[in-house]
Amino acid sequence: MAPSPNSQPAIESILQEQRLFEPPADFAKDAAVSGADQYQTLYDKAAADPAAFWAELAEQELHWFKKWDTVLDWQPPFAKWFVGGKLNISYNCLDRHLTTHRRDKPALVWEGEPGDSRTLTYAELHGEVCQMANVLKDMGVAKGDRVGIYMPMIPEAAIAMLACARIGAAHTVVFGGFSSEALRDRLNDAEAKVVITADGGFRKDKAMPLKPAVDQALAGDAVPSVTNVLVVQRTKQAVDWTDGRDVWWHDVKPEASNDCPAEPMDSEDLLFILYTSGTTGKPKGVVHTTGGYNLYTHTTFQWAFDIKEDDVYWCTADVGWITGHSYIVYGPLSNGATSVMYEGAPRASNPGCFWDVVQKYKVTIFYTAPTAIRAFLKMGDQHPNARDLSSLRILGTVGEPINPEAWMWYHNVIGGEKCPIIDTWWQTETGGFMITPLPGAIATKPGSATKPFPGILADIVDAEGNPVPANEGGYLVIKHPWPSMMRTVYGDDARFRRTYWEHIPPKDGNYVYFAGDGARKDEDGYFWIMGRTDDVLNVSGHRLGTMEIESALVSHPAVAEAAVVGRKDELKGEDVFAFVILEGTHTASDELKVELKQHVVKEIGAIARPGEIRFAAGLPKTRSGKIIRRFLRNLASGEELVGDATTMEDQSVLEKLRTDG
Ligand code: WTA
Repeated sequence: MAPSPNSQPAIESILQEQRLFEPPADFAKDAAVSGADQYQTLYDKAAADPAAFWAELAEQELHWFKKWDTVLDWQPPFAKWFVGGKLNISYNCLDRHLTTHRRDKPALVWEGEPGDSRTLTYAELHGEVCQMANVLKDMGVAKGDRVGIYMPMIPEAAIAMLACARIGAAHTVVFGGFSSEALRDRLNDAEAKVVITADGGFRKDKAMPLKPAVDQALAGDAVPSVTNVLVVQRTKQAVDWTDGRDVWWHDVKPEASNDCPAEPMDSEDLLFILYTSGTTGKPKGVVHTTGGYNLYTHTTFQWAFDIKEDDVYWCTADVGWITGHSYIVYGPLSNGATSVMYEGAPRASNPGCFWDVVQKYKVTIFYTAPTAIRAFLKMGDQHPNARDLSSLRILGTVGEPINPEAWMWYHNVIGGEKCPIIDTWWQTETGGFMITPLPGAIATKPGSATKPFPGILADIVDAEGNPVPANEGGYLVIKHPWPSMMRTVYGDDARFRRTYWEHIPPKDGNYVYFAGDGARKDEDGYFWIMGRTDDVLNVSGHRLGTMEIESALVSHPAVAEAAVVGRKDELKGEDVFAFVILEGTHTASDELKVELKQHVVKEIGAIARPGEIRFAAGLPKTRSGKIIRRFLRNLASGEELVGDATTMEDQSVLEKLRTDG
């Protein structure tokens, strides 16, 4: 069976895409991995013995307090990497640079939204991380505890993550755009002891409060595990205060020592939990551990961005997502790179904001999402053209398939036709890049993530796990464990097994990782990602489960039943479209639509706000009562129905669904 991806932005044009862009010769000449042959040699070596390949890099690239005994212990689907090894990722990101010329090199360069800015050198960052680590210790946080982080994009977000890692507490960062309800669920699932937050942050020209959401999440002892809230002052908004629980960072910081030795962690000790949406149930806590994650984010960052000592690297993601974890904080700092952090976001009121940052800091490597590229494309070439972008040498993209039109604009207008574009395919679960060009080695094709990273055995298979021929759609799978793979779903091994490793039935004990994406491989072995094959939406590069949004809608008293699907959207890639059946006495109205949209924002956050709600009398269901989502997707996009409607229980439902009511 071929998968039917939910979202296929411009899939027709991707299928016809023939252009090939070789790495520019002067770029390739200085690249760490240079030319297709070198990539192939590296790839073949890694594929022949992945464990040996990673062990060699682990020895060479990371500092270990104690070397491991076993490289890989694989009891499918549970992997352990560098078993018996001891290290600390905060040590690898900070301390080991302090005895080198990097001591006074900018580690974090931060640009605030109202135009304020701050640079922290490696020595300064180390000092602040130690201070926060000591404050956490004073609050009773110990190795193995969990800490929630709910922050705007300010340096303290990264400091908080590194401070947790330093003392062996696992962080769970919750994106600042999530609602208090979403925050509460995550804090409870992780049983967090402390929450680190701020009074607010600046977002799209406004000061947005954050602390009230924490207060609401914790109200009435709703999260009994939390004993303290550490609050960073950012916007100077008025805040409510709970004495004994809440602590201002600026009150305790001056007294906190800037010396805090990094705790030697076992390779497999929990580093962080990051919640992400799946097909069913509540968001799942993706578990990442220390050693493999450190090595993999370090290596992928180094090779895919071809990092050089003087590079100024900027990733525009939020630290609340995996991209921010792996490629704003851990990957760059482990390599001793300079990582730019920006508090703002693309918006029509400041159409040059990204390009101002590139110009101001002479950014050399720029990494963003297709949705941002499309937004800037729409705002016009005059904005980037009015800035000096000549410092750029590599461009990257992540989060959703990039349509060739956006790719070409990125290449021509932002990259001045000289910067390789790395289209990086990966997931919260994979920890780091899985399929990506190495910019000096692999010729790119607009819309293709190209080839797997060395050590990654990727393939396209059918539902039974049989490889499909070139250019045929199938399921994207990974056939061998890799160091930064998720270890489990927090507290739910069975869900981990079911969701990722048994979806494609294991054959002869060979388990394959099921990514949930549809893809095809072309005759040159290039991967083309087509989008999710499950009920996960990708809205502006953010993952949302249709079921989460449906549950949010149904929790409103007026709603009897809801079905959510994705509808293609020119800017966001995909938008949330909800079909809603009302409870008996409630009547459909535009006001109710507004109210329901607001209700979803309250339950989940603004990123989940439905673009459209359509009231319905019934939903298309099979005789066994299953909603036929395929039809709903067709209806949402105003397309002809694809497939056979005769299996439906009530044929008249479809006609009524074409319009409200
Ligand atoms: C999608 C983000 C096409 C994909 C790092 C995946 C992509 C999901 C790409 C993971 C890409 C990510 N091309 N699709 N380059 N990168 N995706 O967990 O559907 O937020 O499964 O991780 O985003 O989203 P997540």
